[in-house]
Amino acid sequence: MGEQNPEIVRRPSERERRGLVSRASETIGETVGQVSLRRRWVGGPRPWRVSASAFPKESALEKRARFLVRYAVLAPSSHNTQPWLFTADDDEIRLFADLDRWLTVADHDKRELYLSLGAALENLLVAADHFGLGFEVAYMPGSDSSHAATVRLSESSGSPQSSDSQRSPESPLEGGDSAEESSADYRGARLFTAIPHRRTSRGRFRATPIPTADLAALDRHCVEADVSLQMVADAETLDAIADLTARANRRLYADYAYRRELGRWVGRGAFGDPWPAAKVGKLAVSHLNLGRQRARKDGRAIREGPVVAALRTDDDGRRSQIRAGQVFERLSLLATALGIGIHPVSAALEVGGLRRELVDLLGRPDRPAQHLFRLGYPERESEERRSPRRPAEAVLVD
Ligand SMILES: Cc1cc2nc3c(=O)[nH]c(=O)nc-3n(C[C@H](O)[C@H](O)[C@H](O)COP(=O)(O)O)c2cc1C
Repeated sequence: MGEQNPEIVRRPSERERRGLVSRASETIGETVGQVSLRRRWVGGPRPWRVSASAFPKESALEKRARFLVRYAVLAPSSHNTQPWLFTADDDEIRLFADLDRWLTVADHDKRELYLSLGAALENLLVAADHFGLGFEVAYMPGSDSSHAATVRLSESSGSPQSSDSQRSPESPLEGGDSAEESSADYRGARLFTAIPHRRTSRGRFRATPIPTADLAALDRHCVEADVSLQMVADAETLDAIADLTARANRRLYADYAYRRELGRWVGRGAFGDPWPAAKVGKLAVSHLNLGRQRARKDGRAIREGPVVAALRTDDDGRRSQIRAGQVFERLSLLATALGIGIHPVSAALEVGGLRRELVDLLGRPDRPAQHLFRLGYPERESEERRSPRRPAEAVLVD
């Protein structure tokens, strides 16, 4: 890929990226000097109060594009690292990985980083659709591997016919597979409304099965030809996935570097803990080996089902990972609308050998597993906190 569209590829320079840090610090009234605030700051609750009525519909496209980023930042990301940066120029939004936020231990191969970028991209597209903007997406369009996607927006016809997956010969943007469906068939108002309500459900799920019609609806929302959704509900396979996850947790937590990395994000309040709890949590996670407790908790949750789902892709490339992230977010939004909780359980995918075992267990070893998550009805619906977010202004580079 790479060099074919040089005119649409402008990576923010190191100076621009540094500029972002000082602007973000000004925003929250702190002077940080050489200390990278961007690396540490997890944001606050304000971005969740986004209001569609504030959309600047009469303004130039660039201003509208910048508004869409308010929805992108509400996406899920591993350890809530929010590893994204955006630029918006005229009709183009570019999405970059913020490598200061890469989890070098838990996510050594950057799979979760690109999944998280995909989730942010999907929120952006759902919002664009909602506000009547058309779009085309180019994945990994330049030679810079941190440049995940360029979205070119267009004034749309009212009924959205946006094509993020159609390849048009005239277009400099490389789309991919052609899709007959309009985006309205699998995005639309229901998903848009769900964006500020979605959150990760880590608690136990009730035994209540998910109706077949809802499972079918989730399946229909995985429209990317190179991504497939596999749902598991039989006790034997759930048991085997639970065992793998428990082994993975024990292995990961035995590594001090893994615990220290997780502890750092816990301590920053990335999971929504108030300050004292975050600091105590950091000490506990870093210095105690909680692997057995984690293994027991995740193992039991997976065994109880009712459903564990895997996203599989044609290959293990970045484009596939971004697209799997998009599907994950789309399913998360639909699940939210349907009252279904969703909880990623990534441990087995974070250990190379166990990821392979998982794929063997699920069948089709030629199709890499990108993401694994539980689906069900939370026992206690109100218990999940909103995790903090950096506001759009802090992740937009001019
Ligand atoms: C790629 C990816 C992997 C994740 N893995 C896990 C996981 O293994 N366990 C977990 O509890 N949450 C996991 N999460 C959920 C994040 O921790 C969560 O999105 C983040 O803390 C923000 O919280 P929110 O989703 O409630 O907004 C994952 C999310 C993503 C996108």
